[in-house]
Amino acid sequence: MLDEIIALAKRRGFIYPGSEIYGGLGGMWDYGPLGSQLKKNLKDWWWEDMVIKHDDIVGIDAAIMMNPKAWEASGHVEAFTDPLVECKTCHRRFREDKKGEIQAHEQEHKKKNESIEWTASQKFNLLVKSYLGVIEGKQSEIFLRGEITNGVHVNFKNVINSTRIKIPFGIAQIGKAFRNEITPGNFTFRSREFEQMEVQFYIPPQEEEAMRWFEYWKKDRMDWYIKLGLNPEKLRFRDHSDAERAHYARMATDIEYEAPWGWDEFMGIHHRGNWDLSRHMQYSGQDLRYKNLETGEEYIPFDIETSAGVDRSLLFLLCDAYKKEERRIVLKLHPRLAPYKVAVFPLVANKAELVGKAQEIYHSLQKNAWPVAWDDRGNIGKRYFAQDEIGTPFCITVDYQSLEDQTVTVRDRDTMKQERVAIPQLIEYLNQ
Ligand code: GAP
Repeated sequence: MLDEIIALAKRRGFIYPGSEIYGGLGGMWDYGPLGSQLKKNLKDWWWEDMVIKHDDIVGIDAAIMMNPKAWEASGHVEAFTDPLVECKTCHRRFREDKKGEIQAHEQEHKKKNESIEWTASQKFNLLVKSYLGVIEGKQSEIFLRGEITNGVHVNFKNVINSTRIKIPFGIAQIGKAFRNEITPGNFTFRSREFEQMEVQFYIPPQEEEAMRWFEYWKKDRMDWYIKLGLNPEKLRFRDHSDAERAHYARMATDIEYEAPWGWDEFMGIHHRGNWDLSRHMQYSGQDLRYKNLETGEEYIPFDIETSAGVDRSLLFLLCDAYKKEERRIVLKLHPRLAPYKVAVFPLVANKAELVGKAQEIYHSLQKNAWPVAWDDRGNIGKRYFAQDEIGTPFCITVDYQSLEDQTVTVRDRDTMKQERVAIPQLIEYLNQ
């Protein structure tokens, strides 16, 4: 099924392989006209629910490149590693914890009657390096951020000083992160450049408070993905064992989806304790403690983080929405996520009155900021199926009756039922 989704994504302009005309670049993907709109709809919904509708969360947009000291402080230079084993026969490297991939590789060699032996596991740092001319004539090595999180922590004091927010409160951010993944794969699932949407939620440094907020955010995030339309039976929590927890986390739970290749993670809830702020205090020499102005108490807060992958969320939304029915393929995306909300067709393309009326409707929807598609090719059945395949919830057809009584047919993507709706009532109908 994944192959079919990848093919649909390319054919209809959701996702293309990155720099494809040059043979691509492993782990890079480009979002096309429909994919970029879908991604924007997903991020806008997240921002609306996390920032606009929360008194206690504010947003920021920090720079991708940071002073390299920040990555030493955060522990990523030392500990942001994957244990890798290398195949001694062909020198390909694999993550030691990805047993399935290792076994599949062994099978490939066995089929060719080749021997297979592995090196001992070695740690490999995932930070992507770059160079920046910070001092004239000299180039300094810097890192592209491996997670978007530390752009938030380094601004903790700035946000407190420039707003009236008080603990408990969160700082939200959406942005790109980069990881030198050794085995990118499963379409966009493991990429080298990807986007994250995170909230760092600062609370008083008490374990009971941490447990309470941890459970709160677990439920909140699971409910959010169900609201977006993901099938609850394909969602579950999975707690991290001590061995797999990241260096900054005291507790970690993933939300997993039953992907075409099995259960896999697309977001995490982490209890980061006061790891980040205390380390940034130590490395920057700045006082990052929080002062409760009512009690005078000063402390380094704990951070409960919710960290979701934009690309993985989008991929699983696509997988979940993809339905193969007897006569059609349909993407049953939540209407709010669908790239186009509505398509407008004249019944036939060679009747000027029909085309004119359909154009009027198309332009009036567009003027009212409805993402609307136009199609006058082929027959109506084919046009419906073309819109089903990209998840357009409604198709409006202007037919001969429309010219007489100012009504059109509106066809529902999921039920395929058609209703006649008066043109002046169209926007109200679609809104409902
Ligand atoms: N700030 C915490 C953090 O970055 P993480 O579990 O390493 O935690 C969070 O990453 C999310 O970012 C993951 O759940 C996933 O959705 C996304 N992500 C991580 N690595 C990725 C990759 N190589 N490709 C696509 N998405 C990735």
